[in-house]
Amino acid sequence: MTYPYPLTIKPVEWVDGKVRWLDTSKLPHEEVYYESDDYERIALAIERMEIRGAPAIGVAAALAVAATALKHSTSSLDELRCICMKAIERLWRTRPTAHNLFWALNRMRRVLEGTYRDADELRHALVKEALEIYRQDIETNMAIGRIGEKLLEDGDTVLTHCNAGALATAGFGTALGIIRAAWYSGKKIKVIATETRPVLQGARLTVWELKKEGIPVTLITDNMVGYVMSRGLVTKVIVGADRVLRDGHVINKIGTYMIALCASRHRIPFYVAAPTSTIDLETPLEKVVIEQRNPDEVRYVMGRLITLPDVEVLNPAFDITPPDLVTAIVTERGIVYPPYEENLRKLFE
Ligand code: MRU
Repeated sequence: MTYPYPLTIKPVEWVDGKVRWLDTSKLPHEEVYYESDDYERIALAIERMEIRGAPAIGVAAALAVAATALKHSTSSLDELRCICMKAIERLWRTRPTAHNLFWALNRMRRVLEGTYRDADELRHALVKEALEIYRQDIETNMAIGRIGEKLLEDGDTVLTHCNAGALATAGFGTALGIIRAAWYSGKKIKVIATETRPVLQGARLTVWELKKEGIPVTLITDNMVGYVMSRGLVTKVIVGADRVLRDGHVINKIGTYMIALCASRHRIPFYVAAPTSTIDLETPLEKVVIEQRNPDEVRYVMGRLITLPDVEVLNPAFDITPPDLVTAIVTERGIVYPPYEENLRKLFE
């Protein structure tokens, strides 16, 4: 496969009928890869955030369904459909917020519901679709990079939150895809990465990715955003998204809303990089499920208890940024500006 930009990190891959993934929960200290064709193991990897980031979990789930079809050698079409449907149902329940997971599993389900002569024909169709989802994700990210890098200029310092990089996708990344593309085109830019409590995706993953490429990055704690913006140390913000609603509400890593508020106060453009697989034209705001994670993620930092063990904790994984704080949304089909309701719909026409 040839792509317009280098693919330096492959967090999720298809290798000989199995899913291979980089365990991002162990980064940056250990680079450990696993391989499996067991959908239960892959579902656990998503729940434990070995595989994380909206596009990556969608791709991994689709590949898991394809691996399930290859693993079971039944010649009965009905039995194969039944096994794969169980895999889809299990993967569906792993994480509730990122739209890409449901988008990818719905694509696999539609293939499952097609008409086939025998089980092998269905197996072939499932593998083809999963590999298509994988390939499209990389191409989409590179298109977002190519389109979005026009928003960046020499001398920009871009603040990003969480990890919307190669490690959150099949490769290249969305928000970091734009930063990568600008860097490859020779623009002298710098990045400020927020640490992103409690799971530290910024400190552990974004810093690791950018350092690997030689892109200048400075790490700050989440509570320094106001300081760096008020001092003029940030010229643009680019974040990813787990779900974008039809009216432009952006659901992304907890803390994104606070950054958007601060950016608005300081008149700093706030860009969201999101493939169309993240855009959900159907779900109304009040029906969006914000994942609530294990309170111990807040009580402990890197395995060390930092508070009293029985303290009450809130641990929502995502927050919601209203459309009026979003300067533009960069998709693989173009840059979308307000009014979002109208302009997002046009993307799908
Ligand atoms: O909980 P995570 O690490 O899966 O959250 C990831 C994010 O919030 C990313 O910003 C989002 O998925 C976009 S990734 C291209």
